Amino acid sequence: MAEVTQNATQNVTLTVNGTTITAPKGTLLIEACKQNGIEIPAFCYYPGLSLQGACRMCVVEIEKMPKMQTACTQPIAEGMVVQTESEKVVQARKATLEILLANHPLDCPVCDAGGECELQDMTFKYGAGESLYAEAKQHREEQQWSPAVYYDRPRCILCYRCTRMCGEGMDVWALGVQNRGVSSVISPNGGDQLDCEQCGMCIDVCPVGALTSDSYRYKTRPWEMNHVSTVCTHCADGCKVTLGVRQVSDGSQIVRADNRDKSGINGDFLCAKGRFGFDFVDSSERLTKPLVRNADGKLEPATWEHALRMAAAKLKEIRDGKGGEAIGVIGSNLCTNEESYLLQKFARTVLNTNNIDHDRTTDYPAFARAMAGHPGKAASLREAATAPAILLIGGNPTEEHPLLAWNLRTNVRLNRTRLYIANHKPIKLERQAKAVQGLPPNGYKDLTALLDNNDSDFAKAVLAEESLLVIFGQDYRGGQVEALVGWGLKRGNVRFAFLGDHANSRGAADMGLMPDLLPGYLPVTAPGVFAEEYSGLPATPGKTQPEMVAAAVAGELGALIVVGANPFAKSGVDRAAMRNTFVIVQDLF
Ligand code: SF4
Ligand code: FES
Repeated sequence: MAEVTQNATQNVTLTVNGTTITAPKGTLLIEACKQNGIEIPAFCYYPGLSLQGACRMCVVEIEKMPKMQTACTQPIAEGMVVQTESEKVVQARKATLEILLANHPLDCPVCDAGGECELQDMTFKYGAGESLYAEAKQHREEQQWSPAVYYDRPRCILCYRCTRMCGEGMDVWALGVQNRGVSSVISPNGGDQLDCEQCGMCIDVCPVGALTSDSYRYKTRPWEMNHVSTVCTHCADGCKVTLGVRQVSDGSQIVRADNRDKSGINGDFLCAKGRFGFDFVDSSERLTKPLVRNADGKLEPATWEHALRMAAAKLKEIRDGKGGEAIGVIGSNLCTNEESYLLQKFARTVLNTNNIDHDRTTDYPAFARAMAGHPGKAASLREAATAPAILLIGGNPTEEHPLLAWNLRTNVRLNRTRLYIANHKPIKLERQAKAVQGLPPNGYKDLTALLDNNDSDFAKAVLAEESLLVIFGQDYRGGQVEALVGWGLKRGNVRFAFLGDHANSRGAADMGLMPDLLPGYLPVTAPGVFAEEYSGLPATPGKTQPEMVAAAVAGELGALIVVGANPFAKSGVDRAAMRNTFVIVQDLF
């Protein structure tokens, strides 16, 4: 994140440990060294957060400066000559560590951070063999600040990463500092409990084991886990997550989720859902074997062979007897592209039906229609962290798209991007907005009229921008989407991000989980390149999801296959009315 803040127009040359290095003007010395493979130790410095200069671990010698300087607060200058590992520097770091360890409990064998503690690493590298401090350590009991966060006060080295991450990074400001000087302690701002989003970012940035999480503490050690990279499935942002997976007697168990290697589209960010929402994987309520309803109407465990043979025979009987149109297939906006593609292909080429759909909460076909013929106009999530001007319409990214909200906040804070928000309700991101436009409660039908309104200060400010990233979500559908995209395309330098509300709403649409569209939004009436692949298929659109539910209830569907979805949750139908429909459900629970 730090690179974003720096002026990359002019390079500066300096000498570090006898080696000549260059970096953009304005770069902090600690970052310039890092970019050139020279590591300077740091506790309080954290890229992207405000500078603290609190721990003095990063001290270096700079020629012509009488005292040692903190590399985390020192911008580089032309001709600077720096020593990062001189005897004097090493001695100073040793003294710093001695002070930090004066009241540190040295309970590394049981501390959660053991094995990945920055203080432990620094002590191995620079620490003294013995301490001058012989006084008894002051013990304090651990405090539980929230369902997720625990604080062990004696372990804290007062680097203030947690308070800055909570305030500047998350815009939550739930953590602060109590008392002054040697009595300073980190503390919740609202009494003894954290009033916050429970994102756990404070735990991740803590360099020691002062902040620990309820789900991981005292369970295992880092070297006892496999660290498995995956993608979070809780929203459409798709953050990269590293799961800590431990072997247990009856298999393996996920005990932690983080993104400490800062890779993926989310860098160092994870929200509460991504960090703590993994316990469903090991839930005892998960389906582990097929269940088949017996003659008494009860679901009973069965073998895969029995269940598959029964399903195949019944589907074949219905398809051959009544035709494919008597079968409905409902897919999911949570499944992978591969799963959705195969499901629609199975429906179309095996069951011979276009009765395939999913809960279309986001109108991607309208977006595809609007964007057709305009390559390069779709924006990536990363652009929310770099675009100089952004128009956010509808939705509440803090809750629905936490990574997008993080990118927007970071962009405003580090790059002073101009954020314009049009919404029918107040949202937290307004705190970062340059201008806010209220919309009528039930959405704004003619948004383009608002944006072209010369009497509106909001519209004038938006129109004055040379380039614009327009981000909008599922509040907008059909003609509204096409009108908004058309408005932007006319203006020229506008790019668009259309937000889906589930993990893979976009993939479900792209892969053709729709009664009228094949993969890639090709109409079933004009399959184009897919003509041969789907040649036996009726060239007419099938039933939509609500039509399939209604047909099933009316006894008009012979079979209904539901994968990763619950079409009856919303419709409130009497399921007993479907007793003559052969229903197959594939789901986690
Ligand atoms: Fe630093 Fe951790 Fe203490 Fe916060 S709790 S000040 S992150 S050591
Ligand atoms: Fe520079 Fe703490 S890292 S003073």
